[in-house]
Amino acid sequence: MPIEPWFPLAVYYADVEDAAAQKESLVSAILKLEKKGHKRRVDSETAWTGDFHGVGRIQEDPRFSWIVGQIEAHTLAYLEELGIDLSKIDLYIQRAWPVVSREDQEVPPHAHHNAHVSAVYYVSVPENGTHKSGAFTIYNDANFNEIIAGIGDEHTNAIKKRNPFNYEEGYYAPTEGRVLIFPSQQRHGVEANETGEMRISLSFDIVITSAEQGDPGLHEFLSPPPSQWKKFGKLNG
Ligand SMILES: [Fe+2]
Repeated sequence: MPIEPWFPLAVYYADVEDAAAQKESLVSAILKLEKKGHKRRVDSETAWTGDFHGVGRIQEDPRFSWIVGQIEAHTLAYLEELGIDLSKIDLYIQRAWPVVSREDQEVPPHAHHNAHVSAVYYVSVPENGTHKSGAFTIYNDANFNEIIAGIGDEHTNAIKKRNPFNYEEGYYAPTEGRVLIFPSQQRHGVEANETGEMRISLSFDIVITSAEQGDPGLHEFLSPPPSQWKKFGKLNG
């Protein structure tokens, strides 16, 4: 009696070549950027995220050119697997920023509604490959198989056994040198870092538009490339 899994969420991961050789220089650049960023704007239980502190454009910083190239290559591989015709689109790194998570710090659940595809790269992980270092968590908001709303919550607790049809969360233990890529609209978060040492990662938001020289019909659902946009003038007075 087969039961078939339909409509799976596609999360890509890969271990990036040369990661170990690049680690030291990335860590050093990130910690310098953290020092130069704005005064801390998040509470002490939340990881330092560059996008909140004026450090959101590492895509333009030559110290990050190696990882930017890797993210581009892996994102294209991901989109090919999703069946997208790469000749019809252009891709842009819209923003990219470091995340530094110290003892007991987490990243609360959120989604990146400003982008289409998001990526995270793990530069430095204290207890590599373990949940203690703060697992990346994806939330099953679609809940296709939750036939009774709330059946699995902590009070009702009427799910006997978790399986691929009823998981509410998925986890990736952070692993040095690994990239994760996922749809930006997918809600996710990062568990607390319980190691007592820093976990350092980089986040990327990627936007997809129609190709610069694309068929005009592509613009119906794809945004035209930003080179074709007209910015409003400022109102006088
Ligand atoms: Fe995020």
